[in-house]
Amino acid sequence: MSRYSRITGTGSYLPPRRITNADLAVELAARGVETSDDWIVERTGIRARHFADSGVTSSDLGLQAARQALDAAGVAAGDIDLIIVATSTPDMIFPSAACILQNKLGIAGCAAFDVQAVCSGFVYALTIADSLIKTSTATRALVIGAEVFSRILDFSDRTTCVLFGDGAGAVVLEASETPGILASDLHADGRHVGILCVPGTVSGGKVLGDPLLKMDGKAVFKLAVGVLEETARATLAKAGRTAGDIDWLIPHQANIRIMQGTAKKLKLPLDKLVVTVDEHGNTSAASIPLALDAAVRSGKIKRGDTLMLEGVGGGFTWGAVLLDF
Ligand code: UT7
Repeated sequence: MSRYSRITGTGSYLPPRRITNADLAVELAARGVETSDDWIVERTGIRARHFADSGVTSSDLGLQAARQALDAAGVAAGDIDLIIVATSTPDMIFPSAACILQNKLGIAGCAAFDVQAVCSGFVYALTIADSLIKTSTATRALVIGAEVFSRILDFSDRTTCVLFGDGAGAVVLEASETPGILASDLHADGRHVGILCVPGTVSGGKVLGDPLLKMDGKAVFKLAVGVLEETARATLAKAGRTAGDIDWLIPHQANIRIMQGTAKKLKLPLDKLVVTVDEHGNTSAASIPLALDAAVRSGKIKRGDTLMLEGVGGGFTWGAVLLDF
């Protein structure tokens, strides 16, 4: 009998502090930085984002999302045997946010680690969890994307600080006799390290370099549009499916123009596109599981639907997962 993995529950959490474009424009104006709701909506589709209060960490947000996913799956925390947290904004240098979150869940013993693939992190983490389940290393995994990108934003740089938000999403992925995850496709190209990065580090007790996010938006945009179509087609080919089989496309929520462009290239009607970037902004590794959970809870996504999840981001990294929900 074949062994597959299947999502049995989803969850998400947004910190309560919601910042509209207008709120942000006022805050930035006080710093002499000019932006507007019109510019942000027209160029990105973003209308609001959520920011965590100071002291609230990725593992705090991830914990809330994880609890919801466990409830939805009807699984007790103690039955989880693998925790993977996708994050680029971990609580500390080490140990991992996954170990911290494991402790907050009140469990111990199971494998727990972080995956750092920036905005592709959730797709990477889900693929790793699927592989560990298929090889019987794990049976019931928590896969979480959690970020506090507000901590690494340069609020004097209007080309980046209006784009990102904080949040977390989670799924419970369990061994199953039927798929589940049908195919995955992962890539990276380190030649593009510099177009999206936080170049600082810590050394000898000091911050070395700039610890705030830098992005060449145009370069990222151009690369993203190309690779998102490619990876979707490669994943469909591996699964022996076609774009016509996709019920819901859930791309990384960075920019509505990139997302719609991808749907059009795949010849998918725009009503098959799950969109939360308007309310969440770009939450990096959290964006896909946040969008997935929102669409499940609103009743859009139903059991049996075929979903294409797609990530793209710093590294440069990209990839996709096709699954039957
Ligand atoms: O998570 C990883 C994936 N990340 C992404 O997918 C991001 C990809 N890139 C993008 O989404 C877009 O490139 C941006 C939304 C970041 C920028 O949009 P754009 O259409 O490429 O704008 P631009 O950078 O060409 O800027 C156009 C103008 C510039 O003014 P000038 O030089 O034409 O006078 C900017 O200075 O818009 C100006 N501008 C702003 N104006 C008001 C840039 N940011 C702002 C702002 N408010 N926040």
